[in-house]
Amino acid sequence: MADAAHWNSRYETVGSTEVSWFEAEPTVSVELLAELGIGADQSVIDVGGGASRLVDRLLAAGHTDLAVLDLSGAALAEARQRVGDPAAVEWIEADLTTWEPARRWDVWHDRAVVHFLTSDEERAVYAARLADAIEPDGAFVIGAFAPDGPTQCSGLEVRRQSFDDLAELVGEALIIERRHHVHLTPSGATQSFNWIAGRRLPT
Ligand SMILES: C[S@@+](CC[C@H](N)C(=O)[O-])C[C@H]1O[C@@H](n2cnc3c(N)ncnc32)[C@H](O)[C@@H]1O
Repeated sequence: MADAAHWNSRYETVGSTEVSWFEAEPTVSVELLAELGIGADQSVIDVGGGASRLVDRLLAAGHTDLAVLDLSGAALAEARQRVGDPAAVEWIEADLTTWEPARRWDVWHDRAVVHFLTSDEERAVYAARLADAIEPDGAFVIGAFAPDGPTQCSGLEVRRQSFDDLAELVGEALIIERRHHVHLTPSGATQSFNWIAGRRLPT
């Protein structure tokens, strides 16, 4: 796993709209949140959210309780400036694997951070963070490189995810949608993603 300096340098030297994961519209995320029936009254945390436009779209939809967590202070600063630093958003500069959530959200969203957690130990920590950070019946939308996706991103090894791999991370849950999606990068390459969306089942 890389450190904050690695990610800050990607955002600062390549630029947030030129990095391979950039998307002008977070279409799959927005569609899957809608499919789960997530309304503006529900709180959402976007883990590894970076400079993603998802926070813009959720603010525009009227959400008042949002959080964006990322290792990269540079990415968070850019997103914060772009959306005008509204009170509705908490910006959490932290490493997901050592962060200790101080509250719970209704929804966990992750696009393309979990595949950087390549060891079984890191995956177990991710699953524990998810369980701690969302309500016992909380919802999740998670997207990661699929088994036919890239083997590396941003110079880092990744662990590609089948639908079952993703489902393992959320514990007892109702998976409402499994979606395969091909992301087109700013340079015109394609990247195969798997997404799951659902709701945890309280035990
Ligand atoms: C491929 S980018 C995806 C960014 C964003 N989700 C999007 O769709 O535009 C991965 C992001 O995860 C962040 N990241 C990587 N490892 C992390 C970790 N251990 N904890 C928190 N954020 C991390 C990076 O800084 C980067 O912003």
